[in-house]
Amino acid sequence: LQKEALEKIRDCQQGSALNELRVYYLGKKGPVQGLMKNMKSLSSEEKPIFGQKVNQLKQELSQAIEEKRQELAQKEMLAKIENEKIDITLPGRKPHLANLHPLNLVTQELEDLFIGLGYQVIEGDDIVSDEYCFERANIPKDHPARDMQDSLYIDPNWLLRTHTTAIQMKVLEESAPSLPIKVVCPGKVYRRDDDDATHSHQFMQMEGLVIGENVTLSDLKGTLEFMARKLFGQDREIRFRPSFFPFTEPSVEVDVSCHICNGKGCPTCKGTGWIEILGAGEVHPNVLKMAGYDPEKCSGFAFGVGIERVAMLKYGIDDIRHFYTNDMRFMDEFKRFE
Ligand code: PHE
Repeated sequence: LQKEALEKIRDCQQGSALNELRVYYLGKKGPVQGLMKNMKSLSSEEKPIFGQKVNQLKQELSQAIEEKRQELAQKEMLAKIENEKIDITLPGRKPHLANLHPLNLVTQELEDLFIGLGYQVIEGDDIVSDEYCFERANIPKDHPARDMQDSLYIDPNWLLRTHTTAIQMKVLEESAPSLPIKVVCPGKVYRRDDDDATHSHQFMQMEGLVIGENVTLSDLKGTLEFMARKLFGQDREIRFRPSFFPFTEPSVEVDVSCHICNGKGCPTCKGTGWIEILGAGEVHPNVLKMAGYDPEKCSGFAFGVGIERVAMLKYGIDDIRHFYTNDMRFMDEFKRFE
């Protein structure tokens, strides 16, 4: 019996069959337990010896089964590892990595530049009151300048901001009367406009505002020249042209010498050698007064730059709608600028 059982256990190749053997040989109705029936016919001296032998056999078998079980488990594991082997020499599939949107690239570049000059970056709400978008910017209700920016009103008093100047007005009021103020305010702005290659009903601006003692137009010029050179190359020059904004006096339109033809004249600058990049000026005394400042004691400048416009010029993009259609082929082009 012992020999037969051990052979069967040794030859067993499957966990389930091994289990059957275990139940059979070590179970109550199995042949090993059956040996105990012979006890009756033995003398009282032989009984304990016989009992011991049977127990020994049981132990031996259960040990053999346990060893076999471990052996089978290990085999199974090895087979599994073999099956799941990965061919590390196969070429991998590259995940599509995202990159910064060109408008964020430009915004971050500008933020870094102005942080380096000691400015703070401040954002504001997209929905603003008529008062902060217009009244505080010296654009009263029936002022013709309201038509300069066709607005998207939500109700008679609230609208989607038409310019980041609305953030500027909040900053001015909240800082008053402490000086100096040096902030840039990036954000989305909204206007009622039909979308085409150069217009979008939603775009981005960044507003700059500096208020202090004796802050002049030449400070503005130096600052914007620094900015233009950082954005478009060290050879750039800027020039001021007189303009009009209700919230600045004097107001200027700022041109940068064309970075494509170096000012010689090309289609991008329409042959003039100059490209208009932003509006700016000295903050109007009325604006300072409304925010709680004394225009006799302080002065400052403000400028508002269109992020799309800068990005289009910098990266040579011909249609503003590319920024909003999320075509991955377009987006991937900007990986190399990160
Ligand atoms: N708010 C003006 C616009 O949206 C830009 C501007 C800002 C002009 C600050 C002068 C000073 O066009």
